This record gives sequence, structure tokens and C-alpha cells, in this order.
Amino acid sequence: MQSASAQEDPTLTREENELVTRTGPDTPSGQLWRRFWLPAMLSSELPAPDCPPIRLRLLSEDLIAFRTTDGRVGAVANNCPHRGASLFFGRNEEQGLRCVYHGWKFDLTGACVDLPNEPVESTTRTGR
Ligand code: FES
Repeated sequence: MQSASAQEDPTLTREENELVTRTGPDTPSGQLWRRFWLPAMLSSELPAPDCPPIRLRLLSEDLIAFRTTDGRVGAVANNCPHRGASLFFGRNEEQGLRCVYHGWKFDLTGACVDLPNEPVESTTRTGR
């Protein structure tokens, strides 16, 4: 039998604590948890197609969850990649979430599917 002084200290060090509790996308724990399905919300929180979106914080990321016109549920980053407006205030319409600031629209995967304020020849629109 070991004496109390010979036992290891069960308290995590500061570094160990940060290793297991930091869950951002660039952290070891965050990368581990992103390999699994995680329960994040109840389906009833998005009760109908094109209903208002809801805020969701998951693995240190602020997300916006929404239900599309055909009833599927997804989550995208909270901030619009254009100028950073919150997509929580977006309009959920016709299979996507439209940012209220300049009207860019995003599908369930987060892909931008409409840029109404960009000219047809814009490099933002064409990606070139
Ligand atoms: S900030 Fe969203 S479209 Fe401009």
C-alpha cells in the first residue's frame, strides 16, 4: 500500500486542463470530437420548413441552425463570410438562409448559392 504522499496528484495541470477542455477546430480535443455525431438540439426547436433559425453553440463555434423548405436541418457559421453580419437575422427561404445585410444566400452545407449584389463578371462570384 502506498502512502498518501507517494500517490500521484489527481489534479490536472493547467496544460492538461486546456488540452481536454478547449474544443475549437484547431485544438486536439476539438479535432477528436468532430469525428463523432453530437446531439446539439431537438428537432422540435425548428418546427417547420423555412421557420426562423436558431442560435447554437457547439464545440466552441457559434452556429445558426435552420430547416430548409424541404424539411432538412443544417447548421452554418454564425457570421456571414461577406462582412460578418449574423445569419441569425437571415431570412430562411427557398432552401437557404439569406443574409439580411447584402442578400448573400447559403445552403445547408454553408455554400454560397446567390450573390445578388455582385456583378456577373465579379471574381467573388466566379472564384477566379
Ligand atoms: S454581410 Fe452578409 S451579405 Fe454582406
